[in-house]
Amino acid sequence: MSEFSTPPSDGLGLAAVPRIALAAVRLQRGQTTVFDGLDLCLDQPRIGLIGHNGAGKTSLFRLLCGLEAPASGSVLFDGQDLHQAGRERMRWVGMMFQNPDDQIIFPTVEEELALGLQARGQAKRAAKAQAREFLAQRGLAPWAERAISSLSQGQRQMVCWLALLLAAPRCVLLDEPYASLDLPGQAQLADDIAAAPQQVIVSTHVLAHVRGYARVVWIDQGRVRADGPGEQVCAAYEAAVASEVDARRAARHLYAG
Ligand SMILES: Nc1ncnc2c1ncn2[C@@H]1O[C@H](COP(=O)(O)OP(=O)(O)O)[C@@H](O)[C@H]1O
Ligand SMILES: [Mg+2]
Repeated sequence: MSEFSTPPSDGLGLAAVPRIALAAVRLQRGQTTVFDGLDLCLDQPRIGLIGHNGAGKTSLFRLLCGLEAPASGSVLFDGQDLHQAGRERMRWVGMMFQNPDDQIIFPTVEEELALGLQARGQAKRAAKAQAREFLAQRGLAPWAERAISSLSQGQRQMVCWLALLLAAPRCVLLDEPYASLDLPGQAQLADDIAAAPQQVIVSTHVLAHVRGYARVVWIDQGRVRADGPGEQVCAAYEAAVASEVDARRAARHLYAG
């Protein structure tokens, strides 16, 4: 894919980038041990996260925003234990879920957008007014009173993204954000990410969106298989996928023959 080159600003003009450090993390989800001794330091402004389905990308994000706690090991945000933190954690890390319906709570767009502001201590009326102003700035004034249920999946995802921009946590986690966006929506999100002052960590199967990042982490069965410049890590991942596909086709051919 080449229609989406990564926009040029790879984290320029950022506020201080947080340092998120995982040490010897073990994470159990149901019967599955997702991570067993995971060490990872995330301290770049833009980081891509790639890997097959089931590799552990969402689990990592859930750990980083406090939805999962490690069975052992530590997750530190600028040296502070993320899982011991109280409400301030919402100012540290915010996540956009893969499925907006797992995330959206309120019936209208403005109420949903106001939520993050209220969590930061703003009164409800002021938060709603700011949400409306924010929508208007983006040419989306008519969305304010729209029922969430009247929006398409991609539009609901855009609402989640706008809510995160408004809440402005220091680190933003985007879990496969491009999956249900149309092409203009993908381009808009890519531009928004490039312009965001926060640290942004994005998981995706659309490698073109992270290939230009200075850092991409490839997760494979709960382990870091490669970690480095996006060009190199994406190329290594594509080569591995190609050889897996070849092997599977060869096996099927052998079996059929
Ligand atoms: N709610 C859950 N309960 C038990 N196991 C889960 C749950 N969610 C995910 N898993 C398992 O955790 C592993 C990692 O999944 P996940 O983090 O969702 O991967 P990815 O986001 O890379 O597709 C997989 O083996 C998956 O089956
Ligand atoms: Mg996932």
